[in-house]
Amino acid sequence: SAAEKDGYDWFMRKEIFEQPRAVTDALLGRHSETGRLQLDEVRISEDELREVDRIVIIGCGTANYSGLVAKYAVEHWTRVPCEVELAHEFRYRDPILTRNTLVVAISQSGETADTLMAIRHAREQNAKVLAICNTNGSTIPRESDAVIYTHAGPEIAVASTKGFITQMIACYLLGLYLAQVRGTMYGDEIAAVVDELRRIPGHVEGELAKAEEVYALARDLSAAPAVLFLGRHAGFPIALEGALKLKELAYIHAEGFAAGELKHGPIALVEDGLPIFCIVPPRGRDQLHAKMLSAIQEVRARGARTIVLAEEGDTEVGSYADTVLSLPRVPTLLQPLVAVVPLQLFGCELATLLGNDVDQPRNLAKSVTVE
Ligand code: G6P
Repeated sequence: SAAEKDGYDWFMRKEIFEQPRAVTDALLGRHSETGRLQLDEVRISEDELREVDRIVIIGCGTANYSGLVAKYAVEHWTRVPCEVELAHEFRYRDPILTRNTLVVAISQSGETADTLMAIRHAREQNAKVLAICNTNGSTIPRESDAVIYTHAGPEIAVASTKGFITQMIACYLLGLYLAQVRGTMYGDEIAAVVDELRRIPGHVEGELAKAEEVYALARDLSAAPAVLFLGRHAGFPIALEGALKLKELAYIHAEGFAAGELKHGPIALVEDGLPIFCIVPPRGRDQLHAKMLSAIQEVRARGARTIVLAEEGDTEVGSYADTVLSLPRVPTLLQPLVAVVPLQLFGCELATLLGNDVDQPRNLAKSVTVE
């Protein structure tokens, strides 16, 4: 049953390994034979969705990072300006909201007080609120105008994994749905992205089969006092998430940075032997890939130990990497779905090696129901 660990040492590890199933369930029944996308309960009319002139995504912790990932895809597909903000910051700065603002509240539990207070405020200002949530019938979806359930199944470990990956899936589906309603993408373009999404469970399965590579790396790095994560574009929020997992679970100093920001400060932190995870965007027609490689070169020249996550077949990264973790080949906007998996495995394993309680890290709660 869901409350059993099924032979795993931790719920977290079990939930990481449940991700192929969780993603499959999150996608189930979304794309009809006629090519139309369908979401769970969207009680906002298509006319109202066409009038939306701004999207504000709010959440806390890991949920905030799925919102940051969403921004790259949602703006690209819908051309609607999209902001992402921590729910508690949003609530108390007197945000500008109108009836044409769509507030998207992301919460695994549906009970996070900061997020709940923020949606109450948004609705008082007549904004429309859509919840992305994993817990049926919880408070946040009940108080929203619409909801997309993530269907990940119960998440027990405090650190979110299958909750996060399915939040990203729901965000992509929302972006495609808005693009469908507003006519900013053709049906076959939407279908092509849905096909890529349907390949994700198989891709994640392949990554999980190689977990031992990541565990060996965790053994190697188990004495590291600090770890940095670099990403750019959609890989940037995954750098933040990789660092959050180490703070939460391993209690070590970990930070994620946008690679382009290195020269504006973080590069001063680099010293001999500092492990830096570098998430390399797929090779495309843009310059993201080349720019990421030069960032890796910069930190390596200063003695960093580079752990490079790059798509399989990317032969260029070899000369920049102390360790390469290869990722399945997916479109740039979807890479977060596969880039996060090795980072989850690393956090879980490192915390295990350090003797920490992975499922119940010190000072943290699964769902923070007080402001
Ligand atoms: C707590 C948990 C985090 C989670 C955050 C938001 O801080 O420890 O793992 O990301 O709350 O939770 P929610 O249920 O709103 O997604």
